[in-house]
Amino acid sequence: MKMDIERLARPEIVAMKPYASARSSAAADGILLNANEAPYTHVAGPEWQRLALNRYPQPQPALLRTRLAELYGVAGDRLLMTRGSDEGIDLLTRVFCRPGQDAVVECSPCFGMYRIAATIQGARVIDVPRQAANGFQIDFDQLETTITGQPDVRLVFLTSPNNPTGDLISRERLESVLDASGDRALVVLDEAYIEFCDAASAIELLEKWPQLVVLRTLSKAWAAAGVRCGIVIADPAVIGLLQRVIAPYPLSALAIDAALEAISAESAGRQRRFVAAVRQARADLYRFLQRCDFVVQAWQGEANFILVRVADGSGLVNWCAGRGIRIRDFGSYAQLAGCVRLTIGSPAELVALKSALKAYGEQL
Ligand SMILES: Cc1ncc(COP(=O)(O)O)c(C=O)c1O
Repeated sequence: MKMDIERLARPEIVAMKPYASARSSAAADGILLNANEAPYTHVAGPEWQRLALNRYPQPQPALLRTRLAELYGVAGDRLLMTRGSDEGIDLLTRVFCRPGQDAVVECSPCFGMYRIAATIQGARVIDVPRQAANGFQIDFDQLETTITGQPDVRLVFLTSPNNPTGDLISRERLESVLDASGDRALVVLDEAYIEFCDAASAIELLEKWPQLVVLRTLSKAWAAAGVRCGIVIADPAVIGLLQRVIAPYPLSALAIDAALEAISAESAGRQRRFVAAVRQARADLYRFLQRCDFVVQAWQGEANFILVRVADGSGLVNWCAGRGIRIRDFGSYAQLAGCVRLTIGSPAELVALKSALKAYGEQL
């Protein structure tokens, strides 16, 4: 399908002459007197010589782009490297939503940054809420009616597996939403946790559906949240528009170096073992929770956490905090009264968690 992506973007972003940084507008070799940098590496510290920290990094580092393109099986011009997926969400919202006019759709409970990014941009948030009764599955009929019935919708945020409910969106459902969106809106599928489950990534649908945007991150299954590296994967026209808005040098030289290390061939084996261990520990913790009398319901999900409903969620959060264990309270969401989210930590951390949960049950 051919699609005029620019028609969906804010006209001022399309019309704007983007900033041309020194590194994006000239080669990075020879005598570099075009970026007001320091000529020495030793001033900031001799240990930084290897990374040439005195120089601005490449705006979109070529080697990391090549490695990520291999990892995700896409052409390099479909990728944008960002400061975490958080930045990808922010850029999409800033490029495609006119303040006071356009809207985004989310299906709560979901990752909180979709709403925050939209609110900061002055875009309306239309919620198509999920219900606990059907395992938090999205109401797809209502979602599609919203997309087709509301002409101001520009972005539809979907998450698979979803945070905090852990459920997946089937390929069939996703294609149906893409079909309903047509050339009206972009469908942003956030796959932050996809490596923790067996489901195939929607990346392979990008050729067929130019309105699809996939978000990936090194923060979860690649165990590199501190690097702050997220990846927007989309039609080159979408990437080109986001590139007009992104900061000139979004990834620091340190982050680029660490990201390359995190996804290196040596790390790949460690990553597979880590993911397998998380999945096993998740199943084990889920079985444990089912034996706890105070647990009203647990949703094992397909990510690296379990959502649990108890009678008094904040009470449980405080109980665990008293033992130095931080779990996340989701009780403020309408559908998640009494719910807490437990991240799958290390074996030792899970022993401590189980012991705290057992003691909690005993004192009730
Ligand atoms: C669904 C989802 N998307 C994106 C993010 C943010 O990822 P990043 O660390 O890449 O900014 C999170 C973080 O928890 C998340 O749960």
